[in-house]
Amino acid sequence: PRVVVLSGGLSHERDVSLRSGRRVAEALRLAQVEVTVHDVDADLIPMLSDIRPDVVWPILHGASGEDGSIRDVLELLDLAYVGTGPRSSRIAWSKPVAKSVVARAGISTPDYVTLPQSLFRELGAQAVMNAVVAKIGLPLVVKPSRGGSALGVTLVRSIAELPRAMVTCFAYGDVALLERAVTGTEVAVSVIETADGCQALPPVEIVTDGPYDYDARYNPGRTEYFAPARVTAEQAETVARTAIEAHKALGLRHISRTDLILEADGSIQFLEVNVAPGMTETSLFPQAALAGGRELPELYRSIVETARV
Ligand code: DAL
Ligand code: MG
Repeated sequence: PRVVVLSGGLSHERDVSLRSGRRVAEALRLAQVEVTVHDVDADLIPMLSDIRPDVVWPILHGASGEDGSIRDVLELLDLAYVGTGPRSSRIAWSKPVAKSVVARAGISTPDYVTLPQSLFRELGAQAVMNAVVAKIGLPLVVKPSRGGSALGVTLVRSIAELPRAMVTCFAYGDVALLERAVTGTEVAVSVIETADGCQALPPVEIVTDGPYDYDARYNPGRTEYFAPARVTAEQAETVARTAIEAHKALGLRHISRTDLILEADGSIQFLEVNVAPGMTETSLFPQAALAGGRELPELYRSIVETARV
């Protein structure tokens, strides 16, 4: 098949996307797939109309890629593409919306409050913060309600740390998600869906000495990964089931990655889901695939074949 990989774009995760796109294209070429990589710009529609590839793989992290807007364009052009459709992408991309959807499907997710920047200004930071802390307690995590790669995310241990965390968060978007911080084993579970159904790859465990922030994610050696995660067979089974349930509840397609915390008492907390999981050399999806005994060229080719039909 002839494949166009879309990467780059204008989101905060542009560099990550370029790296992911390059890695996937290299692997597809090894599997004898004809592939070109395109940095998304104003020529997107003429380029796709001209090439009319068999499959488009939007490896765009962050806004426009994961929020569904470029997938709307692919639908308009009636092109086959890898991954989730526009509507479900929009739902998954909003962390609070995704949390409420999976909670309705019976999956636990940490308590949270969403806070628009306008309300924060209007009521005054102190009043808002006291109310939020009374509701969800400390420590808490402040995140942009829509975002990726931990950009704008801060762990807040005391109320004094909150104002700075809010400023950092609002640099990336105008709605903050404040979420109870849960401790335990951090695992990411990648899901692959073919005509035969959904399959979870082995969970990957993330171990950092500091926060699992942008630097820790993309500088080799900064984070220790265990693939598969150091969990019991029963726990591995439970996190796999949870990721597949989240994938289905959110209407995701072909590939996804669900980020979870396994608490000391064995309960599982859903943090978020990614419709365009990172595919760089330090990313979780490729590590999970290798841990599951899959070769990346063969796996990526099979994902493309699934999307083609
Ligand atoms: N948002 C990054 C790319 C990830 O989740 O892997
Ligand atoms: Mg994410």
